[in-house]
Amino acid sequence: MSTVKIIDKEFAISIPEERILAEVDRLAKQISQDFEGKNPLFLGVLNGSFMFAADLFRRITIPAEISFVKLASYEGTASTGVIKEVIGLSENITGRPIIIVEDIVDTGCTMRKLIENLGTRSPESIHVCTLLLKPEKLKVALDVEYVALEIPNDFIVGYGLDYDGYGRNLRDIYTVVE
Ligand code: IMP
Ligand code: MG
Repeated sequence: MSTVKIIDKEFAISIPEERILAEVDRLAKQISQDFEGKNPLFLGVLNGSFMFAADLFRRITIPAEISFVKLASYEGTASTGVIKEVIGLSENITGRPIIIVEDIVDTGCTMRKLIENLGTRSPESIHVCTLLLKPEKLKVALDVEYVALEIPNDFIVGYGLDYDGYGRNLRDIYTVVE
């Protein structure tokens, strides 16, 4: 089995590139069907989703736009805790269907914050499309409509996902070896 070492941890291949791309294909077909004539705006969440967003978007067969946002975390006051600010959204999203493109939904907290923020800008609707979902870790009520792959509760890297900034360039997805 092929393994890689990133910083101090050993990782083994868990989802090969061909499998990932087959699922991306399936999602792109489904989304193209569901949003026919609706002019959706895809919104990739940086950094992790850049590779998935590129592979997904080039398979979309209907007219659509894509943009990217970044979530900047900073410590708020003791009462508010960690605040995530949405930066980089210059498009007017009023009245448009938005498809958020994420690398992974873990606890779901990040996604919920983003949905709340976008909701204040009056889009027609907000949909969530994620490459990976860890169903066991999900701790907020969240309707994740489009999921490429469900995975167990282990730390993974590759295909855009990182361990301390490294591993994003791996073509396959790797799971940490305990
Ligand atoms: P959540 O708010 O707990 O859903 O966290 C989502 C974010 O945590 C993702 O966008 C990733 O950046 C990061 N994350 C969660 N699990 C993993 C993992 O297994 N590998 C790499 N990043 C992860
Ligand atoms: Mg992310």
